[in-house]
Amino acid sequence: MDKLIPTVNKLQDVFNTVGQDEIDLPQIVVVGSQSSGKSSVLENIVGCDFLPRGSGIVTRRPLVLQLVNVPYDKEGSGAADSKPPPARAQFLHLPGKVFTDMAEVRREIERETERLAGSNKGIVKAPIHLRISSPDVLSLTLVDLPGITKIPVGDQPSDIESQTRNLVFEYISKPNSIIVAISPANVDIVNSESLKFAREVDPKGSRTIGVITKIDLMDRGTNSLDILTGRVYPLRLGFVGVVNRSQEDTVANKPISESLAYESEFFRSHPVYRTIQQHCGTSNLAKVLNQLLLQHIRDHLPSIKTKINALISQTEQELSSYGPTTAENGAISNSSRLLKAVTLFATEFSDSIEGTASEMS
Ligand code: GDP
Ligand code: NA
Ligand code: MG
Repeated sequence: MDKLIPTVNKLQDVFNTVGQDEIDLPQIVVVGSQSSGKSSVLENIVGCDFLPRGSGIVTRRPLVLQLVNVPYDKEGSGAADSKPPPARAQFLHLPGKVFTDMAEVRREIERETERLAGSNKGIVKAPIHLRISSPDVLSLTLVDLPGITKIPVGDQPSDIESQTRNLVFEYISKPNSIIVAISPANVDIVNSESLKFAREVDPKGSRTIGVITKIDLMDRGTNSLDILTGRVYPLRLGFVGVVNRSQEDTVANKPISESLAYESEFFRSHPVYRTIQQHCGTSNLAKVLNQLLLQHIRDHLPSIKTKINALISQTEQELSSYGPTTAENGAISNSSRLLKAVTLFATEFSDSIEGTASEMS
């Protein structure tokens, strides 16, 4: 089962490279209003600062973030006192280049955003693909989307609301997407844009998980107990509350490790939240998401496999229709790459399915 998420990641890469969009693969999509804390939640899950920040609309292209857990290889690391290896980051648009400096990752995201979306405030549908491998992450595939906005600010285009709306819907309406709907604790939940969006595509709340940010910013004497325990808004997958870095901490470059430690202590020592630990904190959120993604992939294995088999025979037919003489043809190399990848995937999947069956018996 451990291979399942990396295998889906591989397949996603191939599909993206050949522009194949027919099979929608399980992934976790993060939605929320501007400044609701999306980037902060993602950085806390990854455990390092790598996302562009600033005011206004910073995320202007979807970011497909593949987190890959790699075991810490003590043997290969040499010195006995050596620290764990740093996270390694790679972009699909820069094959072969490995980043270990997260400030450079941030600059590359900014550069790549501007390359397609320009330096004005427009947004573009084409995603940026980033993979981060580290012993400190759980394997997850997350998609960061531009924040939901109501009113154009600064030099944002006048149709920015419908632009973001269309883009967000494109991702969350896929039945294979798990929706992480972010709502800040200091805004009334009935006004949560992310939950409104999620309800439109997932009315039963069966693939939406609620995340309440800014729990530390609530008015004294109020708390999110009823929301987190599901008494206010029904979601089958429930709610998790988090405390991210404040604006002040970010400006002061407070390390994420410190803010995670602060968050743990906040929930552990809080008179109300310490009674509902399973609904609190980034580490719980990451665990829940990892479990959900695995479960989701498992549930969808049969239908994905059927689609893949159809794709294999379709691609085989396409290949044979080109005949043997046009080997240089780009369409052929795309088709044969796709065929190779999906065949490999189908093989791995049958292993996984057997693995699941034996796990359950
Ligand atoms: P995004 O626009 O949804 O990506 O939101 P950001 O992650 O950039 O957060 C917007 C602002 O809210 C930043 O200044 C964050 O430091 C701050 N922020 C986010 N989450 C929290 C939180 O849980 N507590 C506090 N105090 N500030 C937060
Ligand atoms: Na929201
Ligand atoms: Mg952001």
